[in-house]
Amino acid sequence: MKNLIERAHVARAAALDALSKVIDEKALEDFYVSFLAKKGSIPGLMALMKEAEDKAAFGAAVNKARTEVVAAYESKKAALAEKALNLRLAREKIDITLPGEPTPLGHVNPYRLIIDEVTDIFLEMGYEVCEGRDVETDKFNFELLNVPKDHPSRDMQDTFYFGDDYLLRTQTSAAQAHKMSEMEEKKPIRMIAPGKAYRRDDDDMTHSHQFAQIEGLVVDKDISIAHLKATLELFAKKMFGQKREIRLRSSYFPFTEPSVEVDVSCFNCGGKGCPMCKGTGWIEILGAGMVNPRVLEACGYDPEVYSGFAFGVGVERVAMLRYGIDDIRRFYQNDFRFLKDYPVK
Ligand code: PHE
Repeated sequence: MKNLIERAHVARAAALDALSKVIDEKALEDFYVSFLAKKGSIPGLMALMKEAEDKAAFGAAVNKARTEVVAAYESKKAALAEKALNLRLAREKIDITLPGEPTPLGHVNPYRLIIDEVTDIFLEMGYEVCEGRDVETDKFNFELLNVPKDHPSRDMQDTFYFGDDYLLRTQTSAAQAHKMSEMEEKKPIRMIAPGKAYRRDDDDMTHSHQFAQIEGLVVDKDISIAHLKATLELFAKKMFGQKREIRLRSSYFPFTEPSVEVDVSCFNCGGKGCPMCKGTGWIEILGAGMVNPRVLEACGYDPEVYSGFAFGVGVERVAMLRYGIDDIRRFYQNDFRFLKDYPVK
């Protein structure tokens, strides 16, 4: 009997000794097969039970051997797993001192910067922004604006038509006609309408088949040309600097009477004369005038009661002057190198 218990001790000692030599997971697996699996030496001890006289004592010795070996096996397994994890962590360590991959940022097209700036100035003065639309009808783009049927701008050469009646608006002035005729109650208006306009021009450095304008319209009782001048003067100073002055030159637009061309004193040379202002000291920035009474009437306003002024700024022209851009085509060619040159907002 002593012999049998001795054998349990020996099997236990052999197992613990073998386990102490295990250094990796493969060896641990082999150990399990030899010592702890069904046919391993520790469970194998149970086969000797039938030879034991004191079965309880023998059973207790075998159990003790198995418990100890299993515990040692489990702790070895945990130690090996931890070692493997540490190794992997060391291998996969991320070097946070490495510089990151820069993500290229999008840029605002410079003509958009001008629209935003002009819009802010007029919002401050209490104007509302009206969207208008790119696809127009003859009625809003021409008829209501007092553009006569035989006016050259109605020509196929100048306008993109779809069929007889639809067209791409040739001027944001179409937004004026919309605003005035869509007012249910004919109340005062103060609005700007930034947006695209299209003309059948052959593209070159200063002409483009698409460009942006900002339309302005004020309609109220007793509006005079003094209001127009004061408004544009304030705008020119905010946009181009406090020292700027404006001058009005007589001009012609069918929808304004009188009509003017507005120049601002050169913001490059201050008015002395330089290549930017072609030596004149003045730069033309917009067209304007008093809303033609015929337009007011066509859009449902009584010209005996109401009067108004309107203006239209050429956005690309202002952007070209402001940023020294020499070719209008750059605004729509989407060359990233060009876009990158301008301040991101
Ligand atoms: N629509 C005119 C143009 O495209 C500009 C303008 C707008 C003139 C409003 C007077 C009043 O040239």
